[in-house]
Amino acid sequence: MEHEHPDPLRAGRRRVLITGAGGQLGSALQQAFAGDDVLALTRADWDVTHPAPATLPRDDLHLVLHTAAWTDVDGAEADPQGAAAVNVAGVAHAAALKAPLVTFSTDYVFDGRKRSPYVESDGPSPASAYGRTKLHGEAAAGHDAWVVRTSWLFGVTGHNFLGTMLRLGDERDEVAVVDDQRGCPTFAGHLAAAVRELVDDDLPKGLWHVAASGDCTWAEFAEAIFEEAGVECRVRRISSAELERPAPRPAYSVLRSERPGAPVLPHWREGLRACIAEMDG
Ligand SMILES: NC(=O)c1ccc[n+]([C@@H]2O[C@H](COP(=O)([O-])OP(=O)(O)OC[C@H]3O[C@@H](n4cnc5c(N)ncnc54)[C@H](OP(=O)(O)O)[C@@H]3O)[C@@H](O)[C@H]2O)c1
Repeated sequence: MEHEHPDPLRAGRRRVLITGAGGQLGSALQQAFAGDDVLALTRADWDVTHPAPATLPRDDLHLVLHTAAWTDVDGAEADPQGAAAVNVAGVAHAAALKAPLVTFSTDYVFDGRKRSPYVESDGPSPASAYGRTKLHGEAAAGHDAWVVRTSWLFGVTGHNFLGTMLRLGDERDEVAVVDDQRGCPTFAGHLAAAVRELVDDDLPKGLWHVAASGDCTWAEFAEAIFEEAGVECRVRRISSAELERPAPRPAYSVLRSERPGAPVLPHWREGLRACIAEMDG
């Protein structure tokens, strides 16, 4: 006998709205939710610093995947209010659609002084303007939301460390990369699959840490990128102080979940291979 699905989130085609659709996670989520009725909005469709356009269909909306964000970490130091307009007010505007919401936050809500993985019950203490806006954005999500903290995202599209290294590796014999920040480089495709798991399995709302297994420094990640892509380029290991960037980054920001049933992502190196394979395909 067939069972009915009274909860549309667990049924077949759902009406799913994705913000930030042109970004790396927004693109990956469009693939992961391709079986649903997806409305993918870029900034041109909806600037999330403003309430949603009146023309947006709200009544039959089953899920909002809110990836639109100010992700320029250094730029946020110079314009914290501009960053907050996107990362705090933007989340509030997405929550105002009154549909179940998935919104995304960051390992940069932690100051990085710990030396064992950060779990959901660890107290945040952001050291940068970006981290502070994302933390306030978590609070703006309300109660009907999964708040997914992730880290060091890379994907097939968009600006990210992988793309930068591949470009520099083609141009130079050596790149200088920081070796005193440790985290979990997370493939947007793997994160998108985990988001589906959270939603489809109807895991409880609230805060979830979802990042790749394993950890490394940016320099180790760069070396792995060159190995996997077959690029001849040396990595010179430097300190964050040598880079002199406006925003401080946590020295250690490995994320793990302490929550029962949390999705477990593949190792970051598997994510790297999967991403390069998708780029080559
Ligand atoms: N990237 C990371 O390493 C990282 C790490 C941890 C957490 N996260 C979080 O993960 C989420 C997804 O990040 P991502 O890496 O996919 O970011 P991304 O590639 O930078 O994409 C963000 C998207 O948001 C759009 N956007 C910016 N301002 C907007 C506005 N006012 N209205 C509408 N759209 C706007 C951008 O459009 P434009 O292209 O027009 O600017 C872009 O398409 C974000 O919440 C981010 O904070 C990211």
